[in-house]
Amino acid sequence: MRNVRIMLYGVGAVGSLIAKFLLEKEGVEIIGAVDKAKDKIGKDLSEIIGTKKKLGITISKNVDEALSGRKADIVIHATSSFLKDTYPQIASIIEHGIRVVSTCEELTYPYLKETKLAEKLDALAKKHNATVLGTGINPGFLMDTLVITLTAVCQKIDKITATRVMDAGKRRQPFQKKIGAGLTTKEFHAKIENGEITGHVGLEQSVAMIASAIGWKLGKITVTPVEPVVAKKAVASDYIKVKTGDVAGLRQKALGIKGNKEAIILDFQAYLGAKEEYDAIKIEGVPSVNQKIQPCVHGDVGTVATIVNSIPKVLQAPAGLFTMKDLPVPSATLES
Ligand SMILES: NC(=O)c1ccc[n+]([C@@H]2O[C@H](COP(=O)([O-])OP(=O)(O)OC[C@H]3O[C@@H](n4cnc5c(N)ncnc54)[C@H](OP(=O)(O)O)[C@@H]3O)[C@@H](O)[C@H]2O)c1
Repeated sequence: MRNVRIMLYGVGAVGSLIAKFLLEKEGVEIIGAVDKAKDKIGKDLSEIIGTKKKLGITISKNVDEALSGRKADIVIHATSSFLKDTYPQIASIIEHGIRVVSTCEELTYPYLKETKLAEKLDALAKKHNATVLGTGINPGFLMDTLVITLTAVCQKIDKITATRVMDAGKRRQPFQKKIGAGLTTKEFHAKIENGEITGHVGLEQSVAMIASAIGWKLGKITVTPVEPVVAKKAVASDYIKVKTGDVAGLRQKALGIKGNKEAIILDFQAYLGAKEEYDAIKIEGVPSVNQKIQPCVHGDVGTVATIVNSIPKVLQAPAGLFTMKDLPVPSATLES
């Protein structure tokens, strides 16, 4: 990458990690940053991401303010998971004719649940000569793009299973809270009821993207209820202690049904104390393919990389809304 001017939109946990990575990377420059959090607006980016040297980039409250007197080639957007929430934010960027790479989970395959918004976004992007991509590690790569890529060697496919097992004890505290670690099963189910625990967002979008790429017409896509993974013995991370019988994390599956068969199964498990961490893809067909990455790819590191490595693909793509299956083969973007 050379002389790429990047603006950040959303400087939370992921936006901050992306900013730190970009500051070390050659060929890119952060020219501005937007966030709505009152305790961030007006501060220097360095204070938010925790770097010592002042960066001279003030957090602005909106895109117009952040772009005043500056130009950006692309915006890295990392605020929330659902397209109905992120649509106005992304629209406000593309109205400036600027490309967007977003971590918004629903945007990775918006045609499943938000077809109208996807079409509107595509039309708006074309009108303003901008390109939009939703991606990330999952959804965006491990349980969809990588699966799709492996199907390239198959003549026939009967069934696809992708499993991701993570030891949540090695992850950030907010992630451990998000999966309910440390709660009793009663508290866990209450938080599922009131929406405080949502489970993993994006599994059904991954199923839909795989099916679309290989030309399968699925009868339906279902997501199983989020299940607690109960600790068989006490387990602790740096932040949370889980007693035997309490919740160590969660498990969730998405199923793509073809005919009366489960043709695509995505199985996501994140809990403290997982003995084996892996990303596995099993394709039953001609030929069958079995692939296992051990340990599993680190979620945060992989998210930052997938987002930043997508920048050249998005810069070279025509105007419109794209998904990972529409762009050239993903790769790292190394300096040398
Ligand atoms: N696809 C993937 O693989 C992947 C991987 C990681 C994360 N994600 C998703 O990426 C998103 C960001 O993750 P995160 O962990 O960084 O979340 P986070 O820590 O909550 O940070 C989000 C930041 O964006 C700000 N924000 C929210 N709405 C905004 C708006 N309308 N305008 C400007 N700023 C806004 C938030 O401000 P407030 O705090 O005031 O709300 C917060 O500062 C989440 O939806 C997450 O699920 C996806």
